[in-house]
Amino acid sequence: MIAIRTEHEIGLLREANQIVAEALVTLAAMVAPGVTTAELDAAGEEVIRKAGATPSFLGYHGYPRATCISADEVIVHGIPGNRRLKDGEIVSIDVGACFEGYHGDAAVTVACGDVDETRQRLMAATDCALARGIAAARAGSYLVEVSRAVQQAVKAAGFSVVRAFVGHGIGTELHEEPQIPNFDTGSRGPLLKPGMVLAIEPMVNAGTSKVNVLRDGWTAVTADRKPSAHFEHSIVVRDGEADILSGTPRLVWGHGSERSLRN
Ligand code: MF3
Ligand code: CO
Repeated sequence: MIAIRTEHEIGLLREANQIVAEALVTLAAMVAPGVTTAELDAAGEEVIRKAGATPSFLGYHGYPRATCISADEVIVHGIPGNRRLKDGEIVSIDVGACFEGYHGDAAVTVACGDVDETRQRLMAATDCALARGIAAARAGSYLVEVSRAVQQAVKAAGFSVVRAFVGHGIGTELHEEPQIPNFDTGSRGPLLKPGMVLAIEPMVNAGTSKVNVLRDGWTAVTADRKPSAHFEHSIVVRDGEADILSGTPRLVWGHGSERSLRN
């Protein structure tokens, strides 16, 4: 059963997601060569707690930190620690916050210093794929249309979409039904209805789509150690355009989605 949220619940989900967005803005601005992933995590946890929320990821299936910081070859679930960000890397920042029992979840990938053209294109393509997925998420469509929209955008850019991890419904639990693959599984999936809340999160690799999980049990890296990007928004399905709960005027991903959407 996919929950249909009331407008009151959607209000709380928006508050949770706006706390997430504030943390993402703060952390994105801190990304620079020499900064450790633990420093980013500490700042993210502080934003969450000062807003009266709790970090959704901390303790989730034993996850040890408040945020996931995934640099370059790390796809997702990078555990913050003593890794120092280097000039030329791209860094995925993934934050979850629980406010009055409702979860927010979003992620952004940003450049650390000067990044090469491949990494810039990878970030742009992933951001664009998320925008396409969100545009396809409307009441009356089947979920597979979201998956296909993401997959086609990634394919058009010549990169590979990760299949080992998926997006998800979100609400009173961080991960709820449905699973949201970033590729066509061959099943049309559920019919989307107004009030469903979805976390859409493409993970896109420059090289192979194959994933290795490190011995810490969390850190997911590309099998060829080439870079990977990750963007995520939590959205409400509506009759028309989706409502982006984790969006904010201060948080312009801006990796060329508009340009790409016109293609
Ligand atoms: N945004 C990610 C997800 O939805 C982050 C989860 S990290 C975890 O899977 F620790 F909470 F698992
Ligand atoms: Co998520």
